[in-house]
Amino acid sequence: MRIFYILAFFSAIFSVSLAQAQPLVPLPPAPPIPLSNLETPSKIALGKTLFFDPKLSVNGSISCAFCHMPKAGFADPRPVSIGVGGKRGGRNAPPVLNAAYLKLQFWDGRAGSLEEQALGPLTNPVEMENPNNQSIVDRLRKIPAYRKRFQEVFGGSVSIDRIAEAIGAYERTLVTPETPYDRFLMGDKKALSSAQKRGFMLFKGKARCVLCHSGALLSDQGYHNLGVPQTGTLPVDVGRYAVTHYPLDKGKFRTPPLRNVALTSPYMHDGAFRNLSQVVDFYDRGGGRSRFPTKDPLLIPLHLTSAEKKDLVAFLKSLTGETKKQMNQP
Ligand code: HEC
Ligand code: HEC
Repeated sequence: MRIFYILAFFSAIFSVSLAQAQPLVPLPPAPPIPLSNLETPSKIALGKTLFFDPKLSVNGSISCAFCHMPKAGFADPRPVSIGVGGKRGGRNAPPVLNAAYLKLQFWDGRAGSLEEQALGPLTNPVEMENPNNQSIVDRLRKIPAYRKRFQEVFGGSVSIDRIAEAIGAYERTLVTPETPYDRFLMGDKKALSSAQKRGFMLFKGKARCVLCHSGALLSDQGYHNLGVPQTGTLPVDVGRYAVTHYPLDKGKFRTPPLRNVALTSPYMHDGAFRNLSQVVDFYDRGGGRSRFPTKDPLLIPLHLTSAEKKDLVAFLKSLTGETKKQMNQP
């Protein structure tokens, strides 16, 4: 028993120091590429075709891009996503931009890699609704152009793993380094406006944002309960608990990266807030009230002035990168 407490103690210290040790650094120009899915231009091009192809859904009605829209930072402007046949999901679609840098995918971290993630929506009953993986493979195998391209890229026929690999390879090109914020960190003092510079000081100081939004993605990639209001008629969302079954994880969601956040409204796991001022007001109040006793003690009323709130929002807008033409709808 005692050894258990000692281990728990050290793992707690270790995870806290890990969470706080991440410095605010520029985004590396390219994400890590797994050896299991080396990229080629033709694999990336095939992944892009698949990402935009509604034939991946059960009745040919929606593609990945239907919920991850290029013009919305590859996120969804609707509070919660709408799947095949108008079914509403329970969560807001996060941006695919820069997802390649994440250790774990989804609001609750339930997928480990982009390849694993891509298989989720294909058979999700409120997303693309295919009854199983084989049905997608069978559908694409009937299309001569896909047969030819899978042969060219993989030297073999369509398979579910190859679909996931091609999509993953394309997603690793959806990155936005060199934002004004990155240029500022690299020494270009003119890259940020004075309001943005003041906002950055608040972000790292009085407003306490950096306690969770740290590292190159501005996320500790940890899980926290902020007491975000549940929107609409959705059932209770237990967040990370659904993955770990660890009671202290109830109501916790992954700290989202803040890159391109100005493009990806509405905000939070359920799209509870329409704009960034509402988000800042929420933090200023010390967050919301949660039905679970796991609300993060790091959230306290901030007493920001209205000028300070504006500066914080101005800073968040400096995190927007350039979405290059080749990323968009083919
Ligand atoms: C019906 C809408 C919908 C469709 C279609 C859809 N997604 Fe998503 N996507 C979502 C939602 C909602 C989430 C968040 C779900 C969660 O966290 O539980 C998500 C999460 C993700 C993430 C995780 C990002 C992160 O920050 O963790 C990636 C990557 C992604 N989707 C890629 C894809 C790909 C690739 C496809 C096509 C094969 C696809 N999505 C199809 C709605 C959709
Ligand atoms: C205790 C950790 C913590 C602190 C401190 C914190 N955040 Fe967050 N932030 C999160 C988590 C976790 C979420 C997602 C919560 C959810 O959806 O339930 C989030 C969500 C957001 C979002 C929404 C992003 C999106 O894509 O939906 C924005 C914007 C944001 N935070 C900005 C800030 C700012 C600005 C500050 C400082 C005033 C701040 N955060 C302080 C953990 C934190």
